[in-house]
Amino acid sequence: DWTPANIVEESIAAIRAQVGDKQVLCALSGGVDSAVAATLVHRAIGDQLTCAFVDHGLLRKGEREQVKKDFVEITGIKLVVADAEEQFLAALSGVTDPETKRKIIGREFIRVFEQTVRDIADEADIEFLVQGTLYPDVVESGGGEGAANIKSHHNVGGLPDDLQFTLIEPLRALFKDEVRAVGEELGLPHDMVWRQPFPGPGLGIRIIGEVTRERLDLLRDADAIAREELAKSGLEKEVWQFPVVLLADVRSVGVQGDGRTYGHPIVLRPVTSEDAMTADWSRLPYDLLEKISTRITNEVAEVNRVVVDVTSKPPGTIEWE
Ligand code: XMP
Repeated sequence: DWTPANIVEESIAAIRAQVGDKQVLCALSGGVDSAVAATLVHRAIGDQLTCAFVDHGLLRKGEREQVKKDFVEITGIKLVVADAEEQFLAALSGVTDPETKRKIIGREFIRVFEQTVRDIADEADIEFLVQGTLYPDVVESGGGEGAANIKSHHNVGGLPDDLQFTLIEPLRALFKDEVRAVGEELGLPHDMVWRQPFPGPGLGIRIIGEVTRERLDLLRDADAIAREELAKSGLEKEVWQFPVVLLADVRSVGVQGDGRTYGHPIVLRPVTSEDAMTADWSRLPYDLLEKISTRITNEVAEVNRVVVDVTSKPPGTIEWE
């Protein structure tokens, strides 16, 4: 019968049988799916697994450190981090169009990932690539199996011919809630297991306007406050995702302390959803919204106004870009 413990046991046995004594690579995103998939593989084959994490500089506050603390230190997995912030920011310089941003981020991601894989492959002969594909992804893509063609929404696109691997997809039969149950069973930290979905292009598509380091830092601070207050309120599990968006090209007049300010608005976009296909705006309590608004306007320089997005999907998408 179906229990998280059974799933863990069966998939460990299956991975061992599939991999034998070969080497395996896994791209970590910081999200729950890749973390659970990597942990299952690590339980099965230990040090034959190497994980790679691309830091594109568009991450949330403390995310890279959290991957180390909540994941690498607990599991003992071998991790290679690619430090690519400069490269991504240079490529995004002057770009404001949302789809162009996505294309650039996707393209740079493949470049960095490829180089990372080549560096790792110099030392080890890698035959397998782990992917955190879930059952809904399998259904969506027509159930196709085979060569390493990472789905474009994971922002890795196709790898070149000489970097083709056989896929290991230990979560192929599972839904998101089951993945979380397996994550708990594996002893992964609560914060990791209950992490909200986060888009591959990261904060790059939550800055309306050009992406710069200063704007990213500002948004990271506002986003961290919203996440912290939501966690404190105990309502985290009611909310599917909570994008915090910086309207970098908009200014409005405010008054703070003794003077008039001319700063940027921050948009709060908490939504409830089952699968991100449709969504409703979360009716968060007023006192929680007030706490977030007060803290952001007090603590984040340049922000003098906080607004709440009360649009469902459709017609609004979850993200603003
Ligand atoms: P929208 O904004 O279309 O988002 O309602 C639906 C879900 O997809 C996520 N999203 C992305 N994820 N790359 C990703 O990996 C992307 O380019 C991207 N755009 C949107 C979004 O966060 C939501 O969960």
